[in-house]
Amino acid sequence: MKTIDELLAEGVDGKRVFVRADLNVPLADGTITDDGRIRAVLPTIKALADARAKVVVASHLGRPKGAPDPAFSLAPVAARLSELLGAEVAFASDTAGESAADAVRGLAGGRVALLENLRFNPGETSKDDAERAAFADRLATLADVYVGDGFGAVHRKHASVYDLPARLPHYAGYLIATEVGVLKRLTEDVARPYVVALGGAKVSDKLAVIDELLGKADRLLIGGGMAYTFLKAKGYEIGSSLLQEDQLPAVGEYLERAEKNGVDIVLPVDVVAAAEFPDLRTKAPADCSTVDADAMPADRMGLDIGPKTCELYAAKLADAATVFWNGPMGVFEHPDYAEGTRAVARALVDTNGFTVVGGGDSAAAVRTLGFDENAFGHISTGGGASLEYLEGKTLPGLAALED
Ligand code: 3PG
Repeated sequence: MKTIDELLAEGVDGKRVFVRADLNVPLADGTITDDGRIRAVLPTIKALADARAKVVVASHLGRPKGAPDPAFSLAPVAARLSELLGAEVAFASDTAGESAADAVRGLAGGRVALLENLRFNPGETSKDDAERAAFADRLATLADVYVGDGFGAVHRKHASVYDLPARLPHYAGYLIATEVGVLKRLTEDVARPYVVALGGAKVSDKLAVIDELLGKADRLLIGGGMAYTFLKAKGYEIGSSLLQEDQLPAVGEYLERAEKNGVDIVLPVDVVAAAEFPDLRTKAPADCSTVDADAMPADRMGLDIGPKTCELYAAKLADAATVFWNGPMGVFEHPDYAEGTRAVARALVDTNGFTVVGGGDSAAAVRTLGFDENAFGHISTGGGASLEYLEGKTLPGLAALED
């Protein structure tokens, strides 16, 4: 994989460089609530602009249905990018149409343009190779060189991620190089004990990674909504907690295999439970209490790991040499259910091992709960992408940058 440093050494003065970023940031009423993904790609954009490239940045945002939709416009991202760069960013109101062509034509060396949401064009995400290729052909007319730096989207076989690099000289940006370097530390010659904390709502999203980790990790700490399917598989009553009944056989098999492989799967011993899911808009105090995991009342649902589990998980993380954490331990968006996620984050901060927070909700949780990002070894910008890498899959956006 050629890197951006090689491109810079070759020289980019006056060249049009297409940077595929992942600027898929969370928005609330048009306001960016976490700009981590924008900041993560700045080193690449700045280096190219400093070397007097004409930088054409492109990304998706959310999941619009292949047509323009103002709710998913990248306009707020263009404004924030411009603030962070301290320079004007020309914003094109389409993806590969007249506005995009004008914006790129108008760029002087050292300046930056941002295209509108790539997913406003159906060719971006199409499963039809020809439709994707046609869109990639149009995008290719906007640039001389391609830099892949949208790590969060490299697991998607999309036109701008997979097909476009085949049409232009291509290089990996700084973010992708960093993310892949970190993931290699989790898969090749990993320093032990290797402890993985997995949370989030659905166990079905994590089955493939658990399958792989049963041959790699020393301990797996399970929290979040997915923990209840594990508790049920062990024969516990879980009240009205989230359950994926169809996953019980797979989870049961994992528990058996973990025992055979000597992998310590650690489940909650107590949980914070309530009769109802909390109101995340008002964040009104919840009527909740801590109950032991083997004594859950029939009418209560678990919404966070309890204090004894927080202590247990902190102890299991204390001597880790390597930690990967993906998925909150509870409904951390509500203050009454944030302690489990906070305890795991703090345990990562306290350990001397190399700690990686894997994207999406856990990265947002770390920032929302006020932790210093620099206290972690690495906070990945890719949730799904980092999980699929750890599953051992070939990621289309990385494969496309090889050769
Ligand atoms: C993400 O948020 O994980 C990436 O931006 C990919 O988004 P997607 O899941 O909508 O493809």
